[in-house]
Amino acid sequence: MACVALAARAPITLISMAKTKVVAVINQKGGTGKTTTTINLGSALSKRGKKVLLLDLDPQSNLSYSLAVTQPEATLADVLLGGKSIKDVIIPKDDLWLVPGSNELVDVEISLVTQPEREKFLKRILAEAKGFDYILIDCPPSLSVLTLNALTAAQEVLIPLQMEVLTLQGLDQIMNTVEKVRKAFNPGLRIKGIVVVMFDMRRKLSQEVLEYLRENVTEKIFDSQIRLNVKLAEAPSFGRSILDYDASSNGAKDYRALAAEYLGEPDGQE
Ligand SMILES: Nc1ncnc2c1ncn2[C@@H]1O[C@H](COP(=O)(O)OP(=O)(O)OP(=O)(O)O)[C@@H](O)[C@H]1O
Ligand SMILES: [Mg+2]
Repeated sequence: MACVALAARAPITLISMAKTKVVAVINQKGGTGKTTTTINLGSALSKRGKKVLLLDLDPQSNLSYSLAVTQPEATLADVLLGGKSIKDVIIPKDDLWLVPGSNELVDVEISLVTQPEREKFLKRILAEAKGFDYILIDCPPSLSVLTLNALTAAQEVLIPLQMEVLTLQGLDQIMNTVEKVRKAFNPGLRIKGIVVVMFDMRRKLSQEVLEYLRENVTEKIFDSQIRLNVKLAEAPSFGRSILDYDASSNGAKDYRALAAEYLGEPDGQE
């Protein structure tokens, strides 16, 4: 297994991080819209003039696949395993930039577990990704050492959440983890908000869970909900964001509205 020592010694250039906002998109439950939200919020932010880097931190590399990047020359694992600078693995993709992931992130995860300051590796390498307004990190469906690295590198957390009873239980776990990371490693970390995804407003249970959340959770719940929309599920097979695949779909409208709300700007859509 490759050694992670070199990356551990990379200098932290905090100046470059001052302007870039790093956002971890997390939910330890699988299939909750993390990757879909990373790509499409990223694309919508980019179409509002922001320079956006997407980072695929999931060994499944669904984010890379969804942007039709299937066999990149180098990936995030090559950076985290010590050889390359993040600048060497960034790929331009439509109006976005991507740091591709790969299955080798499993090796990274195993290597990191025994490293001192194992939570800081991603923060160190991101310091070299200069000039971006936003770096959105697509996290794996676990609260693993990779997710811990994302939370240590990030200033903000976005939680995509389906309106199901069991997601409420998972939400507590996420909040607890964020709180622990804030206290131990990253005092500036804050939950930017919960994004309601795959929302079916005709379904009574979805409405009830949303009501419960509004009454019991103090974190912001974005008003812009992402509706269930088959075009969002189709877009990855065309390797494009929903905004480039079908700009008039409900999925595109919802992610544009979310980007506007995220930035605190007027939506401007009908
Ligand atoms: N609003 C939506 N409407 C319809 N389908 C959606 C929507 N959002 C996501 N999907 C589909 O649901 C599935 C799971 O979404 P996604 O891959 O974004 O979840 P994830 O949290 O990243 O999953 P994992 O935990 O495996 O990384 C995908 O097939 C995706 O295309
Ligand atoms: Mg995913």
